[in-house]
Amino acid sequence: MNLAGKKILLGVSGGIAVYKSCELLRLLQKKGAVVRVCMTEAATEFVAPLTFASLSKCPVYLKNGTVEARPFQHIDFPRWADLYLVVPATANVIGKFACGIADDPVSLCFMSCTCPRVIAPAMNVAMYNSPAVKRNLEILRGFEGTTVLESPAGELACGEVGQGRLMEPAEIVKWLEGAALCHPRNAPEPPAFPVAQDIDPTLDETLPGHGHKVLLTAGRTEEAIDPVRYISNRSSGKTAVALASVFYANGFEVEVVAGPMEAAFPGGVKVTRVQSAREMHDAVMSRLESADAVVHCAAVADYRPAHAADSKIKDSRSQLVLELVPNPNILRDCTAARASRNQNAGASRTGESGLSHPLNRNQVIVGFALETDHFEEHAAEKLEKSGADALLLNAPVASDSGFGHDCVRYALVEKDKPVPPLAMGGKVDLAETVLNFCLERLNA
Ligand SMILES: Cc1cc2nc3c(=O)[nH]c(=O)nc-3n(C[C@H](O)[C@H](O)[C@H](O)COP(=O)(O)O)c2cc1C
Repeated sequence: MNLAGKKILLGVSGGIAVYKSCELLRLLQKKGAVVRVCMTEAATEFVAPLTFASLSKCPVYLKNGTVEARPFQHIDFPRWADLYLVVPATANVIGKFACGIADDPVSLCFMSCTCPRVIAPAMNVAMYNSPAVKRNLEILRGFEGTTVLESPAGELACGEVGQGRLMEPAEIVKWLEGAALCHPRNAPEPPAFPVAQDIDPTLDETLPGHGHKVLLTAGRTEEAIDPVRYISNRSSGKTAVALASVFYANGFEVEVVAGPMEAAFPGGVKVTRVQSAREMHDAVMSRLESADAVVHCAAVADYRPAHAADSKIKDSRSQLVLELVPNPNILRDCTAARASRNQNAGASRTGESGLSHPLNRNQVIVGFALETDHFEEHAAEKLEKSGADALLLNAPVASDSGFGHDCVRYALVEKDKPVPPLAMGGKVDLAETVLNFCLERLNA
């Protein structure tokens, strides 16, 4: 999970390790996360809410409220959050979470949040090993979207030795960064950015993408063998939907050229449907000039059958050889067209060309590359050949890694920069990475 920009609600319950959640808050902020805090009454006896309010620059949600607090903090805070972290989690709140008791801010937020929840237990070893705590933790592990962090063994604050220590704040941050928590396992992916029907973000001048247009390619292509058979791949189009939603919610006009795919685009996004790579190529090239950013996310077939039969190929029980020819490379043709436009624009400024349309010399072009091995070499080589400004390197998540299918390993590889390590996250995280890159370039 990429913590930059993530909204994290930190639930603090009353154990001796409360002081460590101050450090955790600071570490999360250093990673770019925005943190708000709710506390149980017992927690406030260990560290004053003023400390958390000062660090988070926001009133803390307390049982008796605060003067500044809004009346529906128990709903507002958890709804606002991308992640609910309970650190430290006492035996008491763990019991409440497991049994559905919600009589303090931390347990209330646990019940009313719909985002992933991560709980870091901390208590004395005898408490940790008690049948009640063991049973309650087991119950919580079974809650969809809830993760219970391991409690390391070692010396405890009470002087005893055993399991029950709080996982160190730096370890929690490291764990979060490597975790794919965006979508609870086996749960359907939530809509990337639900946009109310009566709100058109492209009209909002305060949004960073206002006045810009992005052209996206999406889905897969189908290359006909005969009228009923084709060559294709398994792309679902979900990444493109996340991209379209994120760009649209940030004020971009979004136009998509989409091959066959199952996922649906949000209203407000203009979609042109195509079938084959050549159709996608033509549709993209004819729309290229008006786009400020072009993101090639479609899984385009590299090859197509040299000849598509006019009628269904009969089963003759003999060997059949399919001759394949390469499809046009849409990404490379886009970067070549941009280079030639920019060259002509230079010439027109010196009076050598009669161009009549306004040209966007800052057009940003981002490609996608799916790699299974030698990530760094392959990505750098592909980026160089493509002429794109960046490549979103996408690596499949191992099927036995325990992560849901909606999570991906990815890295944005930029020209003349070292390949960053692969991050694990949801498709919205990936889409936000591409959005931020495009905004940075467009505003440069
Ligand atoms: C000095 C002290 C340290 C405590 N440390 C812990 C602890 O680490 N873990 C825990 O579960 N309870 C601990 N307790 C007990 C809790 O504070 C107590 O169960 C309280 O009711 C928890 O309330 P809360 O869950 O609403 O925050 C401690 C109590 C005291 C007095």
